[in-house]
Amino acid sequence: MKLLITGGAGYIGSHTCVVLLEAGHDIAILDDLSNSSREAVRRVEELAGKAVAFHQVDLLDEQAVRNVMAIEQPDGVIHFAGRKAVGESVEQPLLYYRNNVTGTLNLLQAMQDYNVRTLVFSSSATVYGEPDTFPITEDAPLNPANPYGRTKLMIERICIDLVAADPSWRVSLLRYFNPVGAHLSGRIGEAPDGPPNNLLPFIAQVAVGRREELSVFGDDWPTPDGTGVRDYIHVMDLADGHAAALNFLADNTGLHIHSLGTGRGYSVLEVIAAFESASGRRIAYRIASRRAGDIPTSWADPGKARRELGWQATRNLDAMCADAWRWQLQNPQGYPKDTSG
Ligand code: NAD
Ligand code: UFG
Repeated sequence: MKLLITGGAGYIGSHTCVVLLEAGHDIAILDDLSNSSREAVRRVEELAGKAVAFHQVDLLDEQAVRNVMAIEQPDGVIHFAGRKAVGESVEQPLLYYRNNVTGTLNLLQAMQDYNVRTLVFSSSATVYGEPDTFPITEDAPLNPANPYGRTKLMIERICIDLVAADPSWRVSLLRYFNPVGAHLSGRIGEAPDGPPNNLLPFIAQVAVGRREELSVFGDDWPTPDGTGVRDYIHVMDLADGHAAALNFLADNTGLHIHSLGTGRGYSVLEVIAAFESASGRRIAYRIASRRAGDIPTSWADPGKARRELGWQATRNLDAMCADAWRWQLQNPQGYPKDTSG
């Protein structure tokens, strides 16, 4: 298939591009590089041994999006592009609603006008808010706790309405749990700009000496060791999940929702221990107060994805840490700054 990948220069997008190229798809990337680097695209090409068309375009530029659709004429779109920092979304909600929701509307309009009817969308476990029962199934109540999560829920609802109006669409909403790790080569990985918000990249930066210590946000949660529990999923498993979703859509019209997680939760202290043994470095940490908006526990029921997509995660926490560490060690400052455009 010919696929347009929005946000393909980003963390999850770049890994998914490698998997899709290796599966024989042709891809074009649309990304404004607002949270990524052109170098990531070069490395995707290097890893897959295949060229990728790249369009530096902002989804808010409606005409530019239409131009890309006209030039590429893809069979389908995987839509990663969006802002994702929870705290920033609380401080600048309009930025998030405009970028994520309006950006998606521009994309969907261009798809409709150019008769592109296959979409895989990056939703998030954040749409579940703070569930009462575990593991979390796809029919759990939806109650996101911040503007970022609400943009994801709004986009899900837009897609539901679109498919109701025209059932020939094929839409996959993938609700990711906590993506971590990197490609086995260490050539691509997560490269946050500034201090990382998320646990794994923060730990990796402590291990490599870029940060002094990790703050563990609370040890008084109602969990076995008092620290937060999450369903961490290797980014390459997540990438495989997108290939599985595309295969599924080839045989199924309509809208389909799947959680992508491992079905296992690990606490912050368990992740620290696993990273210490993967890296051979000690991770200095101190217990800090709870972070506003955090929930104690989150883990997926991956059963629906296994049954319908024929997909399940295969890489364990040790592999997630080992691969995140290899990337961090080989690229301690992330991707080199762009000089050539
Ligand atoms: P990322 O920031 O690395 O990638 C997103 C990409 O989108 C970046 O390359 C950025 O430059 C691009 N982008 C942002 N706004 C754009 C715009 N208006 N026009 C064009 N490009 C734009 O993030 P990621 O971790 O790879 O996440 C990918 C998707 O998955 C996002 O939609 C995110 O919300 C979702 N998601 C991420 C996580 C996570 O923990 N990483 C969890 C659940 C869902
Ligand atoms: N944590 C720390 N110290 C840190 C960072 C995180 O103790 O410096 C703890 C958190 O309190 C939490 C756990 O580590 O218990 C994981 O936190 P992350 O920030 O890595 O991940 P979240 O589960 O909070 O959120 C992430 C993304 C969201 C996404 C969600 C579900 O940031 O965008 O996963 O997919 F919606």
